[in-house]
Amino acid sequence: MKQEAIGNLIREAGQKMRRARPSEENIHQKEGLANFCTDYDTEIQRFLIRGLSEILPGAAFFGEEDTEGNAGADADGEYTFYIDPIDGTTNFMFDYHHSCVSVGLAHRDKMIAGFVYNPYTDEMYVGIRGKGSYLNGRRLIMKNKPVEQGIVEFGCARYNEAGIDWLFRVVKEMFQNSLSIRCGGSAALGLCRAASGSNTVYLELKLQPYDYAAASVILEEAGGKITQIDGSPITFHEGCSVIGGTPAAWQESREAFSKLKEVE
Ligand code: IPD
Repeated sequence: MKQEAIGNLIREAGQKMRRARPSEENIHQKEGLANFCTDYDTEIQRFLIRGLSEILPGAAFFGEEDTEGNAGADADGEYTFYIDPIDGTTNFMFDYHHSCVSVGLAHRDKMIAGFVYNPYTDEMYVGIRGKGSYLNGRRLIMKNKPVEQGIVEFGCARYNEAGIDWLFRVVKEMFQNSLSIRCGGSAALGLCRAASGSNTVYLELKLQPYDYAAASVILEEAGGKITQIDGSPITFHEGCSVIGGTPAAWQESREAFSKLKEVE
């Protein structure tokens, strides 16, 4: 795989994000409540599709934004790139400096590589199936920490509030069982932070494949576990719920979701 060329391209895309100055004129509303796309999301996705097509001719693309070359859920190639040009768009709009470029690469139905780059901290997470995960070149090997020994992160979005009371019951339980709780605003970074040990686990009730494709390889190759909340495999043709973290925290989160489902 052309790992170095892909990594360099993603770094360049990240620098475009870091230099960008989002303003009202270049922010657009998408379907649903508080769902946004900036001109930078589309520009960076176009840049990535052009560059990745040169690196891996014939590859298909499942990206978040509606741009030329993006086949979305219909992407059907031997190789498919899953692209979130700016994961953490709301953070980006408000200068939170916690957003990333996320690119996963699948061979047929198997996710084989993931690249997640945070240009504000210059942190590049890379996971290659069978070869491990790395943060800026340092191998990530996860300690199997339970929830009580660390930080739990969760995500939620105004445009997707189904199950929100259930999620917040779980979050309250996690808060009371852990050292602290976070909602960082970028699922890809939340999952990568579980891979690198900053979070024990990341939880969200509904994400799209481009949000977790890259981070799923990074997390698994670091020794973590990622599934839907009922324990079934995450899906790459359509979105799903996600629990990703250390095996111990993953198990505790699953139990909390199932225990608190019916409670009012
Ligand atoms: C969003 C972020 C956020 C998560 C949302 C995602 P976007 O992705 O990952 O943390 O809670 O569900 O949609 O829209 O910023 O690429």
